[in-house]
Amino acid sequence: MLDEKNFTKYLNRHEIDAAVQSMANRINADYQGKQLIIVGVLKGAIVFVADLVRHLKVDAEVEFVRLSSYGKARSSSGTVTLLKDIHADIRDKHVLIVEEIIDSGRTLKFLYERIKAAGPASVEIATLLDKASKRVVDVPVKYVGRLIDDQFLVGYGLDLEEKCRNLPDIYYLKYPN
Ligand code: IMP
Ligand code: MG
Repeated sequence: MLDEKNFTKYLNRHEIDAAVQSMANRINADYQGKQLIIVGVLKGAIVFVADLVRHLKVDAEVEFVRLSSYGKARSSSGTVTLLKDIHADIRDKHVLIVEEIIDSGRTLKFLYERIKAAGPASVEIATLLDKASKRVVDVPVKYVGRLIDDQFLVGYGLDLEEKCRNLPDIYYLKYPN
């Protein structure tokens, strides 16, 4: 495991819960009476998706995609590839893409365009965390849990070289290198 001295708590589980609940309240209001398909982005969004969907009161299907990830690098490369696609037919359905964090926006831009091309009734994006100042490509993000500074975060699904996803709170690394 990583050196604990380098971890500083950034959001505790209660703060995360509050952000998840308030986002779910907005989604419940916006999608009342609609057929919703949640598209979670593996692997980072698993914890957030699991918590978010349990607060939803609308009819929702849950799907996942997996996109090429950072690997061991800490910033995304320009190329994104699809490693696992969704199985549901999204034509005329309301799609909500759920991410845990947006940095450059490259990953989501790719997914957003791909889903839009499949002819859904609507497609929106929800993210727990948004490093808005790091955006390289423009993506329309409708639901944001928290705007954050440019920090490398781990826990609650967020990993550092595949570790730390299981931590219930979110930490930032003081010395990420
Ligand atoms: P983007 O394409 O640059 O927006 O990268 C988004 C993806 O990079 C996210 O879905 C995360 O999987 C990963 N990522 C971005 N920032 C962090 C971070 O601070 N900690 C862990 N993973 C991150
Ligand atoms: Mg992700």
